[in-house]
Amino acid sequence: MKSHIAIAIDGPAASGKSTLAGRLSERLNLTMVNSGEMYRAVTWRLLDLRVDVSDASAVVEALGAMDLECGVEGRMSTIKVDGLHPGTELRSEAVNRSVSTVSAVPEVRRRLVELQREYLDFTDVVMEGRDIGSVVFPDTPFKIYIDADADVRAKRRTDVGEVDSVLDRDREDSSRKTAPLMVPDGAARLDTSKHTIESGVLAALEILRGQGLDLEERS
Ligand code: DC
Repeated sequence: MKSHIAIAIDGPAASGKSTLAGRLSERLNLTMVNSGEMYRAVTWRLLDLRVDVSDASAVVEALGAMDLECGVEGRMSTIKVDGLHPGTELRSEAVNRSVSTVSAVPEVRRRLVELQREYLDFTDVVMEGRDIGSVVFPDTPFKIYIDADADVRAKRRTDVGEVDSVLDRDREDSSRKTAPLMVPDGAARLDTSKHTIESGVLAALEILRGQGLDLEERS
């Protein structure tokens, strides 16, 4: 049986991961998995249940009772928590403020990494996040670490009306003990600051070709 492939896209907040992963999923016929949405969905539900997210043991207890259901719709990953689709609430100010605290809890990461790996049981993926090339799929040859200047990243969020302290999140995400944001071993770096979306996608495709992906076969 042919095994499924994983393309890992890691990088800080608002570096362009989702946009790039979305385009690659269309161009290369892959399922796009937004792992940040999984951490956001858990955070949203904890806030909804009035759990104090700064209390790791309360988070672990609530997580133990949480039903998490991952799936695919079209080419995109989906997640339901306790039977509910969080929808636009995933990007609320409250979730933005708490998601890094929740994602630093090792038990949260363990549970979500397991669900992330299960996608490869049935589909090829382009998965974006903070630890995809370092922890979730360390053995994949296809790894890109993307970045963009801090002012460009902050502006991307305010331009869409989001209240999000991206630099504070990056600091928390890079300094946590478990699976911090880092450039994974073997990852190629791509700075999207000076790229248009189209030129960024072309640069990413060239990187993947160099890492051994057969672009023609995937057309
Ligand atoms: O990609 P995003 O900004 O939507 O992610 C939201 C938060 O989720 C991010 O600040 C840290 C956490 N996260 C993580 O810890 N590991 C991942 N693989 C993806 C996201």
